[in-house]
Amino acid sequence: MKPTILVTGGAGYIGSHAVLALQQQGYRVVVLDNLSGGHKDLVEQVLDVEFVVGDTRDRPLLDQLFRDYAIDAVMHFAAYIAVGESVEQPGKYYENNVGGTLTLLEAMVAAGIKQLVFSSTCAIYGPPDEVPIPESHPKRPISPYARSKWMVEQILEDFDTAFGLKSVCFRYFNAAGADPQGRLGEDHYPETHLIPLIIQAALGHRDSIYIFGTDYDTPDGTCIRDYIHILDIAQAHLRGLEYLLQGGQSDAFNLGNGQGFSVRDVIERAEAVTGKSIHVIEQPRRAGDPPVLVGTGDRAKQVLGWSPAYADLQQILTHAWVWHQQRHGKLEPDDSRENLQNEATLAVSPH
Ligand code: UFG
Repeated sequence: MKPTILVTGGAGYIGSHAVLALQQQGYRVVVLDNLSGGHKDLVEQVLDVEFVVGDTRDRPLLDQLFRDYAIDAVMHFAAYIAVGESVEQPGKYYENNVGGTLTLLEAMVAAGIKQLVFSSTCAIYGPPDEVPIPESHPKRPISPYARSKWMVEQILEDFDTAFGLKSVCFRYFNAAGADPQGRLGEDHYPETHLIPLIIQAALGHRDSIYIFGTDYDTPDGTCIRDYIHILDIAQAHLRGLEYLLQGGQSDAFNLGNGQGFSVRDVIERAEAVTGKSIHVIEQPRRAGDPPVLVGTGDRAKQVLGWSPAYADLQQILTHAWVWHQQRHGKLEPDDSRENLQNEATLAVSPH
């Protein structure tokens, strides 16, 4: 029988796609999610898992989970993820992203569980000295969100030294797209990410989108990001898990496509995919945003045998568009939740 995997944050965007990939490979999956950002309906309707609503900061719950389900390894996605919000509320990020992970690690050690796949981020590098960014690049995170992830990576090194707990950290570039069959996709509330915001505008659920910063030292003045398909990220997690289960040593891998797109590029391509014109409003820079984040998955390819299947931005945008139309196409244009989101995303930096 295949091992049993605990997936924290398995009701969230990246976690749920990883759960689907695990299930398709025959793993037994237990999802732990506090539903602060995840979606109960998706877990219940799309995923065939044991679903526990709870928090990684709840040590007695973790102890009980590890006992009741005989967990073999953990995939850890549960975290707060909004870069801008983390600048305004750093304590919230350190408490959950670092504190919650520490509680999880202590519980794993107590239960004798020795393998963890961790959801890290390319944001740990900060403004890069070279592009594409190699894994060995200095770590100079510029937001509490990114610092919280880098802190966890360092804590994981210490837990390996002290307890032999092996981990694979995936530093993704910008996760985007959706399950090509439309079963799962991105659905944050409040939404802060570029692609879903553009799609909301294309669907008529918001009047416009903001461009945060037009004075960066990039060809068109807007930030450049490397967008990677959510399914490719999920597949990498499977590879990382198998690598650890086969006795692999702790390691960290970038997951990117090696190609950067500016905010304006993404808007233009999304206009082509959706057939809608997007009204943009230029804003000052958003605090915590490095100007360029681009990297490859070359080490993951070499060591884990991973390769991206959906590297094309047009395809990523198409899958996202299909998902959003299915999930939110019927919302009224003046839906009050969406209007609230407009306020929530206007995080103006002091620059
Ligand atoms: N952006 C806008 N307007 C918006 C939203 C975003 O101009 O309304 C810009 C941002 O300033 C940034 C780019 O679009 O330059 C991408 O922003 P996202 O919010 O979509 O993504 P981030 O790059 O901030 O963050 C995401 C994940 C992080 C991860 C990071 C790595 O949320 O977890 O990618 O790049 F660390």
